[in-house]
Amino acid sequence: MISSKESSVQRSVDYISKAKSLAAEMTLEEKTKLLSGNGWWRTHAVERLGIPSMSVSDGPHGLRKVEGGGIQASVPATCFPTASAIASSWDTELIREIGVALAEECQASGVQILLGPGVNMKRSPLGGRNFEYFSEDPVLAGKMAAAYILGVQSRGVGTSLKHYAANNQEFERMATSSNLDERTLREVYLPAFEIAVKEAQPWSVMAAYNSVNHVFATENAWLLQDILRKEWGFAGFVVSDWGAVHDGIAGVNAGLSLEMPGSGSYHQNKVLQAVHAGKIPVSRLDDVIVPLLAVILKAQASRQANATFDAERHDLLARRAAADSIVLLKNAGNLLPLNFDEAKTVALIGAFAQTPRYQGSGSSQVNPTRISTAYDELITLAGKNVALRYAAGFSEDGSTTGELIDAAVQEAKASDVAVLFAGLPASYESEGIDRSSLELPIGHNRLIESVLSAQPNLVVVLINGSAVALPWADRVPAIVEAWLGGQASGGAIADVLTGRINPSGKLSESFPVRLEDTPSYPEFPAKNQEANYGEGIFIGYRYYDARKLKPLYPFGFGLSYTTFSYSDLRVTPATGGDKENVSVEVTVKNTGKVWGKEIVQLYVREEQPRVVRPEKELKAFAKVALEPGEDKRVNFQLQARDFAYYDVPRRDWLVKPGDFAILVGASSQDLRLQQTIKILASEANPLRLTRDSLLKEFRNHPQGKAFYSELVAGFGMGDPDEVDIPTRAFLEDMPIYKICAFSEGRFTEERLLEILTKMQ
Ligand code: BGC
Repeated sequence: MISSKESSVQRSVDYISKAKSLAAEMTLEEKTKLLSGNGWWRTHAVERLGIPSMSVSDGPHGLRKVEGGGIQASVPATCFPTASAIASSWDTELIREIGVALAEECQASGVQILLGPGVNMKRSPLGGRNFEYFSEDPVLAGKMAAAYILGVQSRGVGTSLKHYAANNQEFERMATSSNLDERTLREVYLPAFEIAVKEAQPWSVMAAYNSVNHVFATENAWLLQDILRKEWGFAGFVVSDWGAVHDGIAGVNAGLSLEMPGSGSYHQNKVLQAVHAGKIPVSRLDDVIVPLLAVILKAQASRQANATFDAERHDLLARRAAADSIVLLKNAGNLLPLNFDEAKTVALIGAFAQTPRYQGSGSSQVNPTRISTAYDELITLAGKNVALRYAAGFSEDGSTTGELIDAAVQEAKASDVAVLFAGLPASYESEGIDRSSLELPIGHNRLIESVLSAQPNLVVVLINGSAVALPWADRVPAIVEAWLGGQASGGAIADVLTGRINPSGKLSESFPVRLEDTPSYPEFPAKNQEANYGEGIFIGYRYYDARKLKPLYPFGFGLSYTTFSYSDLRVTPATGGDKENVSVEVTVKNTGKVWGKEIVQLYVREEQPRVVRPEKELKAFAKVALEPGEDKRVNFQLQARDFAYYDVPRRDWLVKPGDFAILVGASSQDLRLQQTIKILASEANPLRLTRDSLLKEFRNHPQGKAFYSELVAGFGMGDPDEVDIPTRAFLEDMPIYKICAFSEGRFTEERLLEILTKMQ
């Protein structure tokens, strides 16, 4: 069993008291020195007090423990599927297992904090680090992150949830301000962090490079204190992204505990002077030192001496994870799985079949323990019944030549079926650089078109970390999205192609038809250091729904070698108060001939929202394994928050009483069952009536309705039901403070104040 949130919080409470006692003994010099790292990957020790140095390393999909300083070669470690891949498994248990394995590798290398996971939303498919992030949906990203953190931390290794917050583009990432309204921040860009913090308590959170509405994330007291600690109950420490400290004094005052990498005495001296000058209260210094010290002590106590890890076992886990992340996008005529009962000639085309691409570039780049290729693994699985022919088709940079294409076409013609590996070259997907286009390299598209005209039995296997355009999708019979699947992806692809594993992944992000259809087009990436999130809450499928745009493949979509049916949706209570939990049950049945797993998705829609809301939002999901003919009942529990929107004037989540549709199905565009429930007004959380409230808002308000007739009369209106509709709308849509002027002072300010006081 993994440790529960309570027990980890409990443990940190003990360390916090120890940390407080130690802090009381530290000099100002010692405290300020601890606030900045000792080089790139360690904290400073305070030997006099027995405070050890703590070691941190990247993350997220494998350990990158750098040998030597800076960004250099790292120790061999298992490279698991990157985040966009693993999120497509929608399997929280699987990612938790990966977390455990990652922690074992950290323990074996003496690493105490693993820098991950990354939960930033995919505002655009062009985001350079999309491969490192889970999803365009905060619930999917948050749940995957929480399970990852619980897995890692269950083995005594900390995590660093990153990059907090609204870090959604790479271009000029250290200087750009993400400008977005509070509702968008609360409903789209923060919830994945919130879910991960509340459900898994990461030992640290990494503050991003960018600023949010012009306040740097590392200096943002609202984000670091008010929201992270006070609202969500975060108990760990905040570390800067590498080089994200701009003003060390502002950082400490905002709640930043650790600057990474260390800046020697550069910021230390400034902070020290600021403390002496009273610009940083000593109590504030302790506020940031204590959680850091508590984690250092906890990490020290959790170290396992002489730990080792089983590279073979982890490689097998990486293979299973990669296979479960693969999304079958198309399978016309059941071309897949390839059947090797009889001898078959298969043309494997595309350099990725022999020289796999399996991760992105940048700080997450792992030095793998081993690498499998689809070419070798297919031979192993298909045995003597397969004759493989191979053609590279393109070179490393994605370009091709007439000769390369001709050779590929020849091999395809001479085979029963062609499997063509296409995707993005390494230079297209890297931290620090956003993609400039949604397209595959021209060479890959040319290759696909040419091979298709020679061999209609064509399977395209895609290797990419984020959505791409597929202009030939309607003509290629089978398409497999294999993502950047980690070191064992070659084996995993072979597993799926041969049917050894039935694919069960579903897209963790929408695949648009063209870049022009995407929500942040044409503003992404911002080139003037002002990233204005004009699309607001309409990101990913929320946008395609609102604009009635059909994506090429929708969020949550994925096929299987079997089929599933949905029946008997039961939602209870059908009518209830907004504080009541809603229980949802549905039966899912495997109606095909082979074992398989289905990802059941639950979306909620408010039928008549008061404010503009997405057509539907994912609120829960479950992955269910079923034998042929087997069915299972799947249960979900929904809470008030699942129906709420963020009400900025109230600065709180609000459920508006009314009808809500519960939609259950196989993808965001394939919702098989629906039931509408009614949520009744809650006395506990009514709209707060103020001078700015509209007359009509008094009509149905629990306390306000008592004054409605008086106010109506004050506006000079008789029985409102008798008045014609335009006049009534004119008056009812007026802010209530206008009543004094409208009544020429007969309705007094004093009376209005009296009424409003009764509303508080
Ligand atoms: C990245 C972080 C990473 C850190 C340390 C930064 O440039 O943004 O994700 O953890 O470097 O390598």
